[in-house]
Amino acid sequence: MDEAARRRVPSQGGAFAYGGMVGRKMTPCEARPHLCDWEFPPRFPALLPDAVHVWCAALDPLPDCVRQYAELLSSDELARAARLRSMEHRRRFVVAHGVLRQILARYVEGDPLQLGFRSGPQGKPRLVGSTGDHRLSFNLSHCTEIALVAVAQARELGVDVERLRSIDRADAIAERYLCPAEQETLRATTEDAKAKLFLTYWTRKEALLKATGDGLSMPLDRLDVSGVSDALPRLLTIPDGSGVMRLLAIMDLKPAAGYAGALAVEGYGWQPACWRWKH
Ligand SMILES: CC(C)(COP(=O)(O)OP(=O)(O)OC[C@H]1O[C@@H](n2cnc3c(N)ncnc32)[C@H](O)[C@@H]1OP(=O)(O)O)[C@@H](O)C(=O)NCCC(=O)NCCS
Repeated sequence: MDEAARRRVPSQGGAFAYGGMVGRKMTPCEARPHLCDWEFPPRFPALLPDAVHVWCAALDPLPDCVRQYAELLSSDELARAARLRSMEHRRRFVVAHGVLRQILARYVEGDPLQLGFRSGPQGKPRLVGSTGDHRLSFNLSHCTEIALVAVAQARELGVDVERLRSIDRADAIAERYLCPAEQETLRATTEDAKAKLFLTYWTRKEALLKATGDGLSMPLDRLDVSGVSDALPRLLTIPDGSGVMRLLAIMDLKPAAGYAGALAVEGYGWQPACWRWKH
């Protein structure tokens, strides 16, 4: 890629310098600017050791913007995008991964093009070269029109987002993945509210799975994720893929109307902050 192309990166709307590249001010390029309910941060926020930042990005920006994100991706990422079945899936994958690179580059004060990723045994991606007490942990989730990127310092974390929708064979899936208490609550819920409650449990379990990265050694139908309240993250001690007990806190996220999300983070006492990404 030539230098001119490298410089055509989307900025956060101001003149930021990172890794020798200067983002330029762009015209707004979100096709649906009010999709996400979260606020834009006043400026790019610093990540304190006990903070967890969650960014929500709309995945349907205008075409120019999509092209600029594509220029940030590695050949592997572009090849993965190319294998997706529809133009819409390809575009959203490109934007999600371009935004992820932009966000992580800001925290490490690096060049989004130069970031390297390596995957753990079950595919959890981590940043190459980010180690020790200040290592940057992140997790990505994307579903139709939005992506969430969760970031913390030296804590494992997982994030999941799902579009609220009706679920085929919900009872059979619930029997397989939900614990008896969750199934009972689901049965007592009105038909209208059932799919939302099911997807709420689902996102919490996915976020926990994604936080451990290598999966849980405990079957999901023995993991009780009911009782998470809006006010406080709920603490759970669960065995990771190798049977080591991990203390994780889980909370729900409400990034946009029509979506359910959850965040699971190692340890306790961390403070969440939710931000909307500006293309
Ligand atoms: C890996 C997995 C967790 C991804 O979840 P998903 O809802 O399909 O997709 P999301 O958009 O939330 O997350 C995808 C991102 O997670 C990250 N990821 C991939 N593997 C991961 C892993 N093992 N752990 C954490 N994150 C992972 C990647 O960044 C990926 O993005 P990419 O595919 O664009 O590269 C999922 O495929 C899986 O195996 N889930 C377990 C299934 C299950 O039993 N669920 C029951 C819940 S009740």
